[in-house]
Amino acid sequence: MSNSTEAELIHMFKGIPFTTRSSPELLKSLDAFDAREDDVLLVSYPKSGTHWLAGVITKLYDTHVTITSPIEFGDISKLEELNNVSSKRIIPTHLDYNMLPQNFKNKKCKMIYISRNPKDTAVSMYHYYRDNPNLPTVDTWTAFFDLFLKGNVVCGSWFDHFLSWEEHEDDKNILFLFYEDMKKDLPKVVKKIALFLSLNVSDKDIQDICTKSSFSEMKNDTEKENSDPSHTVCALTSNRKLIFRKGAVGDWKNHFTPKQNRRFEEMFDEKMKLSKM
Ligand code: A3P
Repeated sequence: MSNSTEAELIHMFKGIPFTTRSSPELLKSLDAFDAREDDVLLVSYPKSGTHWLAGVITKLYDTHVTITSPIEFGDISKLEELNNVSSKRIIPTHLDYNMLPQNFKNKKCKMIYISRNPKDTAVSMYHYYRDNPNLPTVDTWTAFFDLFLKGNVVCGSWFDHFLSWEEHEDDKNILFLFYEDMKKDLPKVVKKIALFLSLNVSDKDIQDICTKSSFSEMKNDTEKENSDPSHTVCALTSNRKLIFRKGAVGDWKNHFTPKQNRRFEEMFDEKMKLSKM
């Protein structure tokens, strides 16, 4: 990240790069956030399938729920804005476990963490950086690859993020999901989510939810909508078309050189020594 726009777009907080859309005042005040026991957190490293999961979760509820923008996006007025939401809140966040407001932990709010093969995550993030004027310019995949491995991208290191949450994998209020499992057998994952959220959903409803949550359906829905920023979970772009790019497993093979793959694997083995993954 070496160009001049970067300084306007990115700042560091507790050693992690955040976009300037997350004001330092908001980040500092997050610990004062008043969680509600029935809040559901939707947690991810960027580009792991957050919007997909958000789509599934909202369809699972037959009562009105509000998907907010991520807790860390905005300025200091964000806390009040979230306080004013009168319905049940589904709150997305890209924060690592250590930065998550303590109140959510104390109240044992339900949290769903979605993870994705970091190689595909890196590729997805590369395209997102390239197409999104709210992120620093990256000229080439090679340059982005280095930034990603160093954790010098928004939300920091994929490895640190994953490890901070994996430590809590066995907490009863946290459900761990994988993008690849959703691709392989969505109905199975949707049933798992329904059970975790204590929602009674028939097999027929599960089938309907899966049909409506397919990549093509979600992409089409987006194209029908206008670019309404409040419709985006990511909030880094009002253009939802940027979110639905390819929706595939294994796209990394079209980007990684054999040498990059070796470097990535070495880093993975080193960083994930203590991980069960
Ligand atoms: P690609 O860039 O690889 O296509 P996030 O929502 O966390 O920003 O993640 C975006 C990624 O999830 C994008 O990956 C996007 O295409 C993919 N995605 C979004 N909806 C999807 C769906 N219904 N099915 C499969 N992948 C989906």
